[in-house]
Amino acid sequence: MKETVLSGIRPTGNLHLGNYYGAIQNFIRMQHEYNCYFFVADWHSLTTHPHPGDLHGNVKTVLSEYLACGIDPEIATLYIQSDIKEIAELYLLMNMNSYIGELERTTSFKEKVRKQPDNVNAGLLTYPVLMTTDIIIHKANKVPVGKDQEQNIEMARRFARRFNTIYETDYFPEPEGFSFSKNLIKIPGLDGSGKMGKSEGNAINLADDPKTIHKKVMGAVTDAGPTEMNQTPPEAIENLFQLMEVASEPETVVFFREQYAKCAIRYGDLKKQLSADITKLTEPIRERILEIQSDDAYLAKVVNMGAEKARISAAATLKDVREIIGFRTF
Ligand code: TRP
Repeated sequence: MKETVLSGIRPTGNLHLGNYYGAIQNFIRMQHEYNCYFFVADWHSLTTHPHPGDLHGNVKTVLSEYLACGIDPEIATLYIQSDIKEIAELYLLMNMNSYIGELERTTSFKEKVRKQPDNVNAGLLTYPVLMTTDIIIHKANKVPVGKDQEQNIEMARRFARRFNTIYETDYFPEPEGFSFSKNLIKIPGLDGSGKMGKSEGNAINLADDPKTIHKKVMGAVTDAGPTEMNQTPPEAIENLFQLMEVASEPETVVFFREQYAKCAIRYGDLKKQLSADITKLTEPIRERILEIQSDDAYLAKVVNMGAEKARISAAATLKDVREIIGFRTF
């Protein structure tokens, strides 16, 4: 039997090139190899109190962007978390066996408390419980996530194990974090250091139009240029070469690296080329995003189909769990 893979995406903002190469391309590959569940974590997003006027649009954006990248809703189960009320019930049950102390000690909780001291809500505290529920409700074995989510996966393993211990069962598998570090392509940002991220403000979004991409790339951090032949480029310049490795033809990368080595590089030319090559890459995706976003009938069909598939698996789990905990019907 195929193993079950699950991943959740918080609906906050647009997907960028880093998401595309870091995660989405792997999701697209995995949907053919595993029994995949991908969902939009809209309940999770409430922990940061989005404006009610933004919530639906945010969900629609990630959904359209994932579909545009190539998640096939006929193959994977693609759904909206809040469509599956069984998740709320299992979350309630899981909360009874999660302890305040361990939740307060979570790094991500402490970080959020620092970031939003005026909004330390209980949902924030129990975020790992909801995330655990997302995973175990489909008895997922593998959860592809980045480094920042490792502790949440550790909590999910612990809560699943604890459920099994308390109720003397082996019902839930312990989910494993699943990193694609082997084939992970690191996408640097445009600000001279580190990787691309939406909070860093250094990202190129898949939905950016050519003008926006041009402006962002032309504004990327550079320096005064090489002073010695064959010198090693500093991080900011190496980052641009790395982006070129992803977006441009191999000859183009070789050409600009040679120019750099000869101290003949013109950053303006490099950036123009890079911006054109990135645009060539993202433009078909952007067009699909726009197409899908304006097709409400298609989106409704996708979401209903996903909810139906996810509900079957979630309802079966809840039926077993109620039984295990000791609920009986009259
Ligand atoms: N916490 C994840 C993030 O911020 C999103 C998420 C919610 C998730 N539920 C999940 C990821 C379940 C994997 C599995 O990116």
